[in-house]
Amino acid sequence: MNALSQTTEAGFEPASRIATVGVSKILQIGARAAAMKRDGLPVIILGAGEPDFDTPDNVKAAAKAAIDRGDTKYTALDGTPDLKAAVVAKFRRENNVDYATDEVTVATGAKQILFNAFMATLNAGDEVIIPTPYWTSYSDIVEICGGVSKLIACPAESGFRLQAEQLEAAITPKTRWVLLNSPSNPSGAAYSAADYQPLIDVLLRHPHVWLMVDDMYEHIVYDGFEFVTPVAIEPRLKSRTLTVNGVSKAYAMTGWRIGYAGGPKALIKAMAVIQSQATSCPSSISQAAAVEALNGPQDFLKERQQSFKARRDLVVARLNAISGIDCRTPEGAFYTFAGCEGLIGKTTPAGKTIATDADFTDYLLETVHVAVVPGSAFGLSPYFRISYATSEAELKEALDRIAAACEKLS
Ligand SMILES: Cc1ncc(COP(=O)(O)O)c(C=O)c1O
Repeated sequence: MNALSQTTEAGFEPASRIATVGVSKILQIGARAAAMKRDGLPVIILGAGEPDFDTPDNVKAAAKAAIDRGDTKYTALDGTPDLKAAVVAKFRRENNVDYATDEVTVATGAKQILFNAFMATLNAGDEVIIPTPYWTSYSDIVEICGGVSKLIACPAESGFRLQAEQLEAAITPKTRWVLLNSPSNPSGAAYSAADYQPLIDVLLRHPHVWLMVDDMYEHIVYDGFEFVTPVAIEPRLKSRTLTVNGVSKAYAMTGWRIGYAGGPKALIKAMAVIQSQATSCPSSISQAAAVEALNGPQDFLKERQQSFKARRDLVVARLNAISGIDCRTPEGAFYTFAGCEGLIGKTTPAGKTIATDADFTDYLLETVHVAVVPGSAFGLSPYFRISYATSEAELKEALDRIAAACEKLS
């Protein structure tokens, strides 16, 4: 992260709560790549965190119908009754978890769910355990809310998954939350029930620690992987778990900005207090669209999964064929997080040493015009993330270029 102070104009003093928070490295790379593209360079951007599919037609139609019938006013603070009912039904149908209506909340994206939850619960100095590599917003949101991110390195050798001994060692009296994300952005790694169990056992021994799980990529899993959410495995955790999800990735609705969560009533109420002073409510039209997404036909999810799987297989195979790159096969999401340790220390044709993963990704952008994100942006090096939510033709071309660029290193 770049501290905001580096980019501010003279005379402007940002609040201390954002002193360590900056514009995301992912957005910086995206902006640089987009500028190069505007200059006429043939840039391929593999950085996008959103599906390349369109929002389904039935969902769009539901939004149009909402506009036409005048659903254009403020709604109930943290979700319309219809959307809350759809969320309750979703948790029951897909996760085998029973949440009551007052145990669910809806916000302007899962990002706002996280923000509401941390804002409502963290006092200065409270700790949040976050395994790395992590979605960069996690630690920034924690810090804006006055908390302290306790980052725990989970490299490829441990499947990019937090281990029970690591969790046990990281817990202190100040620990408020543990934040887990499965399948993960950026690693694509997911926790099976067997992977979760040892962590759940640790949490049962530490009743002051709450669990936040980000299930955003639940529907994008491969090879028969069985997605499971912790509360379904251990109902005793339900009274201190926030189960976060949303429609952005599964239904290709990133721009509609609807996320939701299930959790204990007192937490849900506290989150509504934050939301009431931040946005009043999520968009009425987007909520109507989300009702249709959750209640409507679901069969297209499997087709999209197949399409993502073909692209995952292509990217993993092509990356592993490059000397110096090592890519674990991810269980889900639409990202690969490949190790590039074998390239560190090599020299570019221009005589520059590749000392870090960011040097490697800069080299790719500058010489073969492929934009990928260094592991350092996600708190774990030396790796780089590829988002394969783009056409197979573009992926093939990008991988040809990456392979050619790596060949030229000596
Ligand atoms: C792991 C993870 N959680 C949450 C989000 C936020 O999703 P939303 O669009 O619902 O705010 C993202 C978006 O990139 C994500 O990758």
